[in-house]
Amino acid sequence: MRLVFLGAPGVGKGTQAQRLAAQEKIPQVSTGDILRESVKRGTPLGRQVKASMDSGKLVPDEVVIGLVREKLSSPECAQGYILDGFTRTMAQAEALDRMFTETGTTGLDYVVSFEAPEEEIVRRLSGRRSCATCQTVYHMEHDPPRREGICDKCGGALIQRADDEAETVLARLRVFDQQTKPLVEYYQRRGLLRRVDASESIDQVYKRLLAVVHGTSVA
Ligand code: AP5
Repeated sequence: MRLVFLGAPGVGKGTQAQRLAAQEKIPQVSTGDILRESVKRGTPLGRQVKASMDSGKLVPDEVVIGLVREKLSSPECAQGYILDGFTRTMAQAEALDRMFTETGTTGLDYVVSFEAPEEEIVRRLSGRRSCATCQTVYHMEHDPPRREGICDKCGGALIQRADDEAETVLARLRVFDQQTKPLVEYYQRRGLLRRVDASESIDQVYKRLLAVVHGTSVA
């Protein structure tokens, strides 16, 4: 199964990708997580991308495309993957198509577009907390950890992402509208797009997602 998850920042792509990846036993390839890890470790890549990420802008296409190209050619991605937060620009979509052609790989099964009203997205981002160690995502109301401030999975400290501050959230939403939304039409024209109403609970959205990827209907 090869999937792309599209959608505004905070709509719930990562939450759903984490669940589906565990169930299907395929990797969740989150460009955001890879980039944040590089920033945390202070690698040359991390130093190069930090300013873009802190201001809510996209990291340059050639950087992200290089990262994804390397990741997808690794053995762990041989049986499929969920691309969470990639593709995000037309140049990235075209580069992914070229990767499939170059490697003779069957292309994507689906591109899932998660959709929810902007007010709900802003609420989700303001309540989000992430594990500083393993990056597991929580929400203070909708998906809290068992012990406040502590990750259920690894015991790491839960933090608020720097780019979840109100001003940066608005910048990220504008970037999404301008640079990523056009991909919805791009994938729709190619017959790959599946829309998922992401405005309901995490469990309900997951049911809708399973119905899309397994071609069944939602109760
Ligand atoms: P990235 O980390 O990809 O951020 P994003 O796309 O902005 O997405 P988020 O992680 O903010 O949100 P999400 O949709 O995964 O929501 P989540 O599941 O966490 O990218 C960060 C930065 O890296 C970018 O700004 C850019 O600089 C750079 N970057 C990354 N990829 C790039 C690329 N391809 N090209 C260029 N630059 C790139 O959920 C949010 C909250 O809501 C959580 O608290 C969760 O618990 C809660 N929640 C989820 N679902 C529900 C629900 N149904 N009901 C209630 N609460 C819910």
